[in-house]
This record gives sequence, C-alpha cells and structure tokens, in this order.
Amino acid sequence: MSNVPNHEVPSYLVPHGIGPWGVYLEQIDRVTPYLGSLARWVETLKRPKRMLVVDVPIERDDGTIAHFEGYRVQHNTSRGPGKGGVRFHQDVTLSEVMALSAWMTIKNAAVNVPYGGAKGGIRVDPKTLSRGELQRVTRRYTSEIGIIIGPNKDIPAPDVNTDSQIMAWMMDTYSMNQGSTSSGVVTGKPISLGGSLGRHEATGRGVFVVGCEAAAKRGLDIKDAKVAVQGFGNVGGIAARLFAEAGSKVVAVQDHVTTVFNAGGLDVPALQAYVAKNGSVKGFAGADEITDRAQFWSVDCDILVPAALEQQITEANANQIKAKIILEGANGPTTPAADDILRDKGVLIVPDVIANAGGVTVSYFEWVQDFSSFFWTEDEINLRLTRIMREAFAAVWQLADEKKVSLRTAAFIVACTRVLQAREMRGLYP
Ligand SMILES: NC(=O)c1ccc[n+]([C@@H]2O[C@H](COP(=O)([O-])OP(=O)(O)OC[C@H]3O[C@@H](n4cnc5c(N)ncnc54)[C@H](O)[C@@H]3O)[C@@H](O)[C@H]2O)c1
Repeated sequence: MSNVPNHEVPSYLVPHGIGPWGVYLEQIDRVTPYLGSLARWVETLKRPKRMLVVDVPIERDDGTIAHFEGYRVQHNTSRGPGKGGVRFHQDVTLSEVMALSAWMTIKNAAVNVPYGGAKGGIRVDPKTLSRGELQRVTRRYTSEIGIIIGPNKDIPAPDVNTDSQIMAWMMDTYSMNQGSTSSGVVTGKPISLGGSLGRHEATGRGVFVVGCEAAAKRGLDIKDAKVAVQGFGNVGGIAARLFAEAGSKVVAVQDHVTTVFNAGGLDVPALQAYVAKNGSVKGFAGADEITDRAQFWSVDCDILVPAALEQQITEANANQIKAKIILEGANGPTTPAADDILRDKGVLIVPDVIANAGGVTVSYFEWVQDFSSFFWTEDEINLRLTRIMREAFAAVWQLADEKKVSLRTAAFIVACTRVLQAREMRGLYP
C-alpha cells in the first residue's frame, strides 16, 4: 500500500513508505482540480520519464574497492533539457531523487526557464572520503551517467555536499569522454571555467528577494525581523548573510551537528568563517548552544528558513512554529499535513519551487553565457535574477489570491499548466 491514497507504488520503490516522492504525488493531487482540460495529461507528471541507476566503484586510498549507488532521474523534458543538481549524501534514495527531479520540473516551469526537471545523487557521505576518493567517485559517476547528460540533454549543477570543484571535475570528465571541452554540460562551475558571476550566491539571494516581497505583503519590516535558519551551507548561509546585511537579526542557526542561538542576533560573517574552518556551527563563541534539536522549531522568530533537507517541518513540529513567514530554501522541507496546520495558523509559506529558484535561474544565465561565450557583469546578473524572482512571486501571489489557494498550489497551477500545455502541443510520440 502507498502512504498516499489513490496511488500505485511503482515496483521499484519500497512499498511501506514511498518517501519524498509520496509528498510530491500529494502536491500533484492538490493541483489537479485546477488544471481544467489539461488534467487529462496529469499522469505524465506522476511518472519520471527516465531513470538511470548506476554502480560507482572506486579504489580507496588504502587499496580496497568501494561501491556506491548513483542515480540520475529525468522527470520531464517537455519544455527543454533536464536540469537539476547532484547530491552526495549517505541517505540518498531513488524516491528522494525522483521527488527532487519532479520539483525541478515544477520550479523551472514556475519561473519560466526553458528546462525540464532532473536530479542526481550518490549514496555516499563525502566527509568519509579523501579528496582523491571524492574526485574518483565524481568522475566515475559522471562517466556512468554520461550516456544521458549533455548541454542539450540534461545539465547537472551543485546541490547538498557538491560545489564548484565537483562541477569542474564533472565538466572535465564529460569533456574527456567527448573529446572536446564542453563547458555547458554542468552549471555552478568555477568562474575561470565558464561559471557565472553570482551563481554561488544565487539561491540564497533569491530566498532573500522573495523574503522581502513576502514581508512587505505581511507588513513586516525586514530591518526588525528575527530570522531562524536550518542548514548553514550554500543556501542557508548566504540567505542568513543577506538578511543580516539588511538589518534583520539572525537569532538561530541549526546544522547537521547542533543548534546555536543568540537573541541579540548572531554575527553571521563570523559564523560563516567559523563553519568554513570547523565544519559546523558547534562551539561558536558568539552564541548559546541548544542541545535539544527539536527546540529549534519553537524559537521565537518572524521568518523561518528551512535550508537543509526534505520533510523537516511535519505534523510533529508544525504547531510549535512561531514564525509568520516560512521561506523554503530547501527542496520539499514541509509535508502536506504540516502545510495544512501552518495554513490554519495563518503562517505564510513561500514554497521551494519559487523561494529557491534563484539558483536554477542563474544556472540558466550561466548556460546561456557558455553557449555564447559572452559573459555578463555581476550587477546585470543580480538585476535580472531579482526581476525574475519578483515577477514569479507577484504572479503566484495574484493567482493564489484569485483562486483562494496557498502559494504552493498557485505555483503548481502555473507550472503544471505550462508543462502540460507543452506536452499537449507536442503530442505523444509515435
Ligand atoms: N545549492 C543550490 O543552488 C540549491 C538550489 C535550490 C535548492 N537547494 C536546496 O537547498 C538545500 C540545501 O542545499 P545547499 O546547497 O545549501 O547544501 P550544502 O551542502 O551547502 O548545505 C547543507 C546544510 O544543511 C545542513 N544539514 C544537513 N543535514 C541536516 C539536518 N539533518 N539538520 C539540520 N541541518 C542539516 C548541513 O550542516 C549544511 O549546513 C537542499 O534542500 C537543496 O536541494 C540548493
């Protein structure tokens, strides 16, 4: 039995719980009544187009051989090539990569960049690998998925535990196999290899931009706002920095190790420097440590930014949340049941498919710049990013208001309509 009513469990997923894919299916069920005649095509969104599961063997530094599971899922390519990050994490599953790829389909359509949705991952804890092992894992994985990726087919990017160095190794491996340099095969590359200015900060910046829009709608002054952030990596760290620069107080940060708290506001740049050196917020002198992880959710704040992993805000903690606004930096951080509880409490949730779309937007800019070999200034990039984020937020806000639905359902209406219109116009092959 599926944990989502009315859905078959595909034979390749674990039947007693289909994980994040189940959350995504429930979100699709919620939007289906609003799709009109396009609802006839909705099943296409419930079935990933193509999934590749690969074995990633490497020789360890000590001479032993290790094997890791790798995945690349292309959920939908009706509107363009697949696009989505690669995650290195010990808990990666096929269900998770399926859901993340589907959210990319929705996100790319919601902000109207010309991509389908894809995602990849390796079930490995990169902290247990040496730099050499990490490079070998990355290169072997890239070579294995090389048959389905490419600048016009599917373009990976960074996600949890992957960064510009990993993108450089991926680009090099793909290029070596092709016989010529192919910079457009991945985004999030170092600037010197065809990366884009502003890409590193883009997701966090997008979270901040929509955060300002949402705060304005709620009559909240960013200068006085108290902010709590879960996940202090690329997305959470940069969003926290931008809020602090705008005068907000970042009162709590939780990472994979612990939670730190300072009612007067954390010194965010100092915390970032501390994490870069020590790998975690644990032991940071300018804050108190909260040892009970669950207490993070009841911290007194106005804006909560989940920017770590999926299914963090659940029935178990939604009622404790004091924030007026939740900005979903992470993908899939809120379960549908928690969504309902928060809606009843009057909490405004800016959904992941809008809130964290800044990353893929600047990835799109990077891809365009690589194709034309003509590079833009950081100001141009940030200006264009801000405009796209504001316009996407405004369109979704207006639709939510008209239909009396949540911002998530409104974003899904906009996105699913675009994807299914493309599907209908292209028709089924053969
Ligand atoms: N990097 C991007 O451009 C991008 C774009 C869109 C969405 N996202 C999403 O944002 C989220 C974070 O990605 P990132 O790129 O910042 O990753 P990252 O690897 O840079 O940082 C992840 C952070 O989450 C923390 N974390 C991990 N497990 C945790 C746990 N159980 N509880 C609390 N904190 C935990 C880590 O300590 C780290 O601070 C993911 O959901 C990702 O899919 C990332």
